[in-house]
Amino acid sequence: MLVYDPYAYEAHEDPYPIYARLRAEAPLYRNEALDFWALSRHADVLSAIKDTERYSNAHGVTLDPAASGPHAHLGMSFLAMDPPRHTQMRALVSRGFTPRRVAALEPRIRAMAVAHLERMAEAGRSDFVADLAGRLPMDVISEMLGVPETDRGTLRAWADRLVHREEGVLDVPPEGLEAFQHIWRYFSERVAERTRTPGEDLISALLAAEIDGQRLAPAEIVSFCNLMIVAGNETTTKLLANALYWLWRNPDQRKLVADDPGRIPGWIEETLRYDASSQVIGRVTHRELALHGQRVPEGARVLLLLGSANRDERAFESPDAYDIRRNASAMVSFGQGTHFCLGASLARLEARVVLEEFWRRFPDYEVEPAGLVRVHSVNVRGFAALPLELRRG
Ligand code: HEM
Repeated sequence: MLVYDPYAYEAHEDPYPIYARLRAEAPLYRNEALDFWALSRHADVLSAIKDTERYSNAHGVTLDPAASGPHAHLGMSFLAMDPPRHTQMRALVSRGFTPRRVAALEPRIRAMAVAHLERMAEAGRSDFVADLAGRLPMDVISEMLGVPETDRGTLRAWADRLVHREEGVLDVPPEGLEAFQHIWRYFSERVAERTRTPGEDLISALLAAEIDGQRLAPAEIVSFCNLMIVAGNETTTKLLANALYWLWRNPDQRKLVADDPGRIPGWIEETLRYDASSQVIGRVTHRELALHGQRVPEGARVLLLLGSANRDERAFESPDAYDIRRNASAMVSFGQGTHFCLGASLARLEARVVLEEFWRRFPDYEVEPAGLVRVHSVNVRGFAALPLELRRG
């Protein structure tokens, strides 16, 4: 029998054989026990993810009951909204993500990356996640939101606790909910402080912004801060470590980067496709749908398996080969359409800067496989620990 359970540790270890079976045998899959449907083929995922008429984000995008339902926007802001409210909120926040604003972050990102890498070079070995990949994305978000350096470690620890799942736990665990409350309280205080003393950060900009003559409520800004952490932190951390891991596993591809470091952007794109850090995105049907000869009722939870779509043989040639030269632009790792990842260019910039600086120093890096630890999360895929042996190149 074909069983797909996104909570199972087996699915976190290697979901790709299960995805291949889903695409072949059950392109519309039904899990009665967990009460969801799943689409796994590229064409189906792509058309659903863009379709805000038939599919809604307003009940959240995860399977976790605690983060699902009409209140989902409290934690997920406009990611858990449909147009027109989504359109208005996103338009406001987008001002913080214009190409000019993102590009302006590059020198700061490079300086932070270099500082981490120099510390790693001194030690000669490193857990790449603890020393860099798990820190930098949060630091970048913190800079944007104006979080002081002294608070960043605590905030990062809460963010990690929010997404971690022990095996067999089918919801946000109490520690996760507690972490969410800490994050909520923390940003409520930051918003209150910025109301009193505006600064140059995104929180201050949002406090001053208006939609149709109306200001955002403090709670709406706090939700947005939480979304930045949920959407922009773990995903980018995982991309960075996945890139080093898969290049190490594929010596022929590593040689291509060694011969031409100009291939780093191709390395990033292929890593995003081959092992998407955001594997699953959920929707709820607005109305009854007919899919693959079956009826999916109104109000049903449908999981869109991004990681599977990226490996669909109908969309990519030799999808299970890691090939940094391929055109990976059909990948759906950042979503598509209305909810297309607002931070995609920022994530790509962070990855490029980190990998450029890393490669300059450690082209001979080795992964120590015995120390690898996978993260266990319903939608995020990647490493909790990636031990490296480092020699200066
Ligand atoms: C490799 C890194 C990243 C991946 C794989 C990723 C993936 C995604 C995906 C798949 C979505 C679409 C969700 C949907 O359709 O419901 C999304 C949305 C979003 N992402 Fe990212 N993301 C990444 C990095 C970031 C960063 C760095 C930020 C910001 C700092 C960010 C902020 C957002 C926001 C605000 C949304 C909501 C957009 C909307 O609903 O209109 N992401 N991301």
